[in-house]
Amino acid sequence: MGKGFFISKAVGIAAIIVGAGALATIIALSVVYSQEKAKNNDNVLPTDGGTTSKPPVTTTAPSNEPWDKYRLPKSLVPDHYNVTLWPRLKQNLTTGLFIFTGQSTVEFVCAEETDLILIHSNKLNYTKRENNHLASLTSLGGVKAPSIKSSWLQQVTQYLVLQLDGKLMKDHRYHLHTDFTGELADDLGGFYRSEYMEDGVKKVVATTQMQPTDARKAFPCFDEPAMKAIFHITLIHDLGTVALSNGEEKGHDVQKTVFQPTEKMSTYLLAFIVSDFSFINNTIDGVLIRIFARTPAIAAGQGDYALNKTGPILKFFEKYYNSSYPLPKSDQIALPDFNAGAMENWGLITYRETALLYDETFSSNSNKQRIATIIAHELAHMWFGNLVTLRWWNDLWLNEGFASYVEYLGAHEAEPEWNVKDLIVLSDVHRVFAVDALASSHPLSSKEEDIQKPAQISELFDAISYSKVTSLTAFQHLKFTYLAEFAFGNAGYTDLWSHLQMAVDATGTDIPETVSNIMNTWVLQMGFPVVTVNTSTGIISQKHFLLDPDSEVTTPSIYNYEWIVPIKWMKTETIQHPKWLKNESVTIDEMKVSGSDWVLANINVVGYYRVNYDQGNWERLLGVLSTNHVAIPVINRAQLVDDAFNLARAKIISTVLALRTTKYLNKEREYMPWESAVGNLDFFYLMFDRSEVYGPMQDYLRNQVTPLFTHYKSLTDNWKNVPVGHMDQYNQVNAISLACRTGLRECQNLTNQWFNQWMETKLNPIHPNLRSTVYCNAIAAGGAKEWEFAWSQFKNASIAIEADKLRYALACTKQPWLLNRYLEYTLDPNMIRKQDATSTIVYIANNVIGQSLAWDFVRARWSYIFTQYGGGSFSFSNLVNGVTERFSTEYELQQLKQFKEDNAEVGFGSGTLAVDQSIERTIANIKWIAENKQNVLDWFKAEEKP
Ligand SMILES: *[C@@H]1O[C@H](CO)[C@@H](O)[C@H](O)[C@H]1NC(C)=O
Ligand SMILES: *[C@@H]1O[C@H](CO)[C@@H](O)[C@H](O)[C@H]1NC(C)=O
Ligand SMILES: *[C@@H]1O[C@H](CO)[C@@H](O)[C@H](O)[C@H]1NC(C)=O
Ligand SMILES: *[C@@H]1O[C@H](CO)[C@@H](O)[C@H](O)[C@H]1NC(C)=O
Ligand SMILES: *[C@@H]1O[C@H](CO)[C@@H](O)[C@H](O)[C@H]1NC(C)=O
Ligand SMILES: [Zn+2]
Repeated sequence: MGKGFFISKAVGIAAIIVGAGALATIIALSVVYSQEKAKNNDNVLPTDGGTTSKPPVTTTAPSNEPWDKYRLPKSLVPDHYNVTLWPRLKQNLTTGLFIFTGQSTVEFVCAEETDLILIHSNKLNYTKRENNHLASLTSLGGVKAPSIKSSWLQQVTQYLVLQLDGKLMKDHRYHLHTDFTGELADDLGGFYRSEYMEDGVKKVVATTQMQPTDARKAFPCFDEPAMKAIFHITLIHDLGTVALSNGEEKGHDVQKTVFQPTEKMSTYLLAFIVSDFSFINNTIDGVLIRIFARTPAIAAGQGDYALNKTGPILKFFEKYYNSSYPLPKSDQIALPDFNAGAMENWGLITYRETALLYDETFSSNSNKQRIATIIAHELAHMWFGNLVTLRWWNDLWLNEGFASYVEYLGAHEAEPEWNVKDLIVLSDVHRVFAVDALASSHPLSSKEEDIQKPAQISELFDAISYSKVTSLTAFQHLKFTYLAEFAFGNAGYTDLWSHLQMAVDATGTDIPETVSNIMNTWVLQMGFPVVTVNTSTGIISQKHFLLDPDSEVTTPSIYNYEWIVPIKWMKTETIQHPKWLKNESVTIDEMKVSGSDWVLANINVVGYYRVNYDQGNWERLLGVLSTNHVAIPVINRAQLVDDAFNLARAKIISTVLALRTTKYLNKEREYMPWESAVGNLDFFYLMFDRSEVYGPMQDYLRNQVTPLFTHYKSLTDNWKNVPVGHMDQYNQVNAISLACRTGLRECQNLTNQWFNQWMETKLNPIHPNLRSTVYCNAIAAGGAKEWEFAWSQFKNASIAIEADKLRYALACTKQPWLLNRYLEYTLDPNMIRKQDATSTIVYIANNVIGQSLAWDFVRARWSYIFTQYGGGSFSFSNLVNGVTERFSTEYELQQLKQFKEDNAEVGFGSGTLAVDQSIERTIANIKWIAENKQNVLDWFKAEEKP
């Protein structure tokens, strides 16, 4: 799936430097769910992801009947399905429901004799067939099918169960026929409906989101990724509407569209859509490319950017994988209601509108980057994920981690001037570090038997599964042998390792252990190391990095929390020959330095670990930052700041040392170090914006950022022009955001003046890049008038990207009554779409005034939120983490524990782990404040003395 509406997290990269440091890069296999990033405006600060080595199996059905188990028996193997579905886009006024009806015939082969048929089915009502049973069975090839003895629906495990009065015979083929009805609900899962207004008329779209386990909500199916089959789909729909599915349209008659059979594929990649949408198209090397969206959006040219970029990205991946695009067409569609960021359905990719539609007048450079990277991510899945599919969900990390890495390569192809590859560290590595440093994190790979129930599967879609990327050389060679061997089939990560090993052997690359021995240290144990370089002794050593050093790691690891770590490093300004750290420690004489020499390890952060140094080397590095910061590569400047702050959190170095890494920023103009600092200072804001540290901290930061603000003012000729570079455009946003946040009067005047001009003239003078921050600051400074104006602009926005900026900014007001009213709106789908409810609540909680209001609101409404937003939604962990982020007092900890206790019955669904993580985080925050508040206060005060 694409990055969610949460924010993105991280990708960690463990670079395996194969060979003479020559090709030091390449594969990213990976981990973690990188959701979309803060600057995409989907600003949720998720800290989801962790768990004990496995998601807990909460209740196991107390029975050994096959239908009480969550996994299908291996006795039946589907060959193909013929499915006809008829969604009704009009409400039935008697029942108040939107429904769909369907018929399905599945042909399956019996692999082991059995008198039982189990097939997944959820929330479907069946029309009785012969002898009053829910299905009927026929056989092929002259034998007689046994008759059905009894049939029923097993709700908990989501099966249609048929007991037969005789055995199905091995290697024989059978047909199972069903007629069924389901609700076309607005629940964003399975076959569901999305609504929008066009010219004052409400329109309904029927669409799908199957991954991971909701295909069974659309028709009865063997709903596991390894149960690949061919699907013959027919959709019945009204004249004038457009029906789409994975295959090409084969024919229409009055009311129905028949599609070409699909390739052999997994159920979770199916898609069926009926809409009134329009499209634009082109053809590239015989592959038809179409972009579908609401008719006014297509007419306004909002699909053009996606259409322009899809062809080149597709071509890039064909080359990269050395495998031609396996399908005759590639459709992409923007949906008004969509839970994740995008979904890689084979041949029919679905997106949130903000992830596909671009408009120069409204879209920022970050919106544009998101579109390019999400398209690349989803297209990458057409091969890695769709052509070759994970065997079971425990290997989800392989699928998502890989796509999260190669999306940067695809986006780079689309926009070579952006240097997006440099952003991996900020967008993914830092984010995954945050989650993977908790004792409650989990290894990339879970055991198959630990992942059984739909909720456990959903929980895997977290930061860790998307972003812990591992780099490996020789990937270029390995990948196509892997794809070729497993095309149209399924594989696990061990298959990938053996193909990597073949590539390594073939090229004679020199690595210290086998690929699998190296990779397994990163994949089979959670977390990552902090590598300490002692430049006075030359000893380098590693230790499991835990954000809270007192937290208890209860999960044993066969590798004893040691990793095989590639060390790329430089001495003073010269890059050195890379080394490996295989054990707890090793002495490397060349790392002993004296005088003014310094050592910097993990160059360009190609390795997935943090670095600490002896005090002397830290002092020398700080010295370089203050006198000649460009001697340190820009990604490492960002990294020094991030490592220092996190090492301080973990009590490995002092907080004051971390703060000292920000002193040189008044000379820094580059985006990455600033972004890293701003991200880390966010934690200081969360911890201190309700305390006396706040004032002196604001004074210090205002002084640090003022030169950057002034720099942009002159660079843009008093804010009239747009900076040329992509990264400069990003950093301009940082300059304004932080200057206004720290109370720089000139900044506040600027944003208020722009916003007022908009209110008065109704012509928006604010550049799209700056809108989020300008709106937010102006609404924070204003009152009801500004809020109401923004709300009306939100309701009338013609493009979701603009609406999203306003939705974010509306949470910035300082008026409690407006915030409370806004919270109420989040649970009214007429006000705030369901897909946006969680992130809106979290935006409000991010506001210091909104924090306690949002927490009270979520606590009071938990069971309602849970029932309304529970099914198929992946956002509970974001919600729980988001509303508790600032928690740092005993009182808040008690409330949180109480919340856990009070709602034990209702449950927390995919937020279960997040509740425990929040408790863990709150305890750590309490300790951190107790230990650091005075020092930090003293330091900020001292810095303000001239
Ligand atoms: C509405 O539902 C009722 C009850 O299921 C059914 O009898 C009726 O035919 C439906 N109306 C329409 C217009 O489909
Ligand atoms: C499904 O439809 C195809 C094409 O019409 C047909 O060849 C096949 O026999 C059908 N299979 C079943 C199980 O009905
Ligand atoms: C399915 O049956 C249940 C129980 O009779 C009913 O409440 C529900 O509305 C039905 N769903 C549809 C889509 O007809
Ligand atoms: C785009 O679609 C139109 C209408 O279906 C068709 O006539 C045209 O040939 C298509 N163009 C390309 C480049 O595929
Ligand atoms: C798409 O490509 C066309 C032709 O190169 C170009 O004129 C147009 O500006 C592009 N549109 C966007 C939004 O990139
Ligand atoms: Zn994905």
